[in-house]
Amino acid sequence: MSAKIVARSAEKRFQTRAGWMTALRDFDLEVAEGEFLCLVGPSGCGKSTFLRILAGLDHATGGEVRIDPGPDPRQPLANVVFQEYAVFPWKTVLHNVAFGLEMRGVGRREREATAHRWIDKVALTRFVDYYPAQLSGGMKQRVSIARALANDPQVLLMDEPLGALDAQTRAVLQEELLQLWEESRKTVLYVTHSIDEAVFLGDRVVVMTAHPGTVKTVIDVDLPRPRDLSVMATPEFAALTGAVWDALRDEVRRAMAEQA
Ligand SMILES: Nc1ncnc2c1ncn2[C@@H]1O[C@H](COP(=O)(O)OP(=O)(O)OP(=O)(O)O)[C@@H](O)[C@H]1O
Ligand SMILES: [Mg+2]
Repeated sequence: MSAKIVARSAEKRFQTRAGWMTALRDFDLEVAEGEFLCLVGPSGCGKSTFLRILAGLDHATGGEVRIDPGPDPRQPLANVVFQEYAVFPWKTVLHNVAFGLEMRGVGRREREATAHRWIDKVALTRFVDYYPAQLSGGMKQRVSIARALANDPQVLLMDEPLGALDAQTRAVLQEELLQLWEESRKTVLYVTHSIDEAVFLGDRVVVMTAHPGTVKTVIDVDLPRPRDLSVMATPEFAALTGAVWDALRDEVRRAMAEQA
């Protein structure tokens, strides 16, 4: 399969009051078309920075970072789901989900029909006219996910999208997310601090080093799909999470020592 996301010797330096600091260095990564790739690494290693560059919210200061555009120029390249529920408080669920389509000039009837379809898929049908303040955290995050998917981007970028949720809500949304992904098989780059989540969701887990971030190791997750949460009780799952943790442990220690 061809690479959809490519980073080659990517570098990102920030100018700070204390001088230049390197957030990413020699960062190489390829995400195949249709792959679900999870990115883990200690706090401050540059995960969000990389996602922001991919989303076009920032730029690399060296090397190459790109998403290979598909054949349809009207299809948006990437949408991002962030940890903070990035929904518009003054818009209803319906208008939040339809927002990306509205921005792209999709007519009202079509965008609302599409939005309704995604709202049904994320089980918010009853809440279509609610405002975010009337929703729980898990529901708001469903709105964000529906909004991103309704826009049908070529690539979905997710930065700890379930990080702020309680464990049970998170588990339910992990399963829902996988079901949605099975239907579309979109290219997904998913940042998480949870090793279990990375192994449960991903085709591969990329472990980054502590700052400056680079790729430490890549772990193939050969668990069969479709997956449900019961896979977490298998010895194969335990072996994979163990391997990710082995790669990550020293990096987390290094990052903590640096920040101390
Ligand atoms: N705009 C900025 N200016 C200066 N430094 C920045 C800026 N954005 C990020 N950094 C620095 O770049 C490094 C990487 O930050 P980033 O947010 O990408 O880390 P992260 O891996 O997403 O961490 P976390 O897991 O805590 O979310 C950090 O040291 C951070 O302080
Ligand atoms: Mg981050």
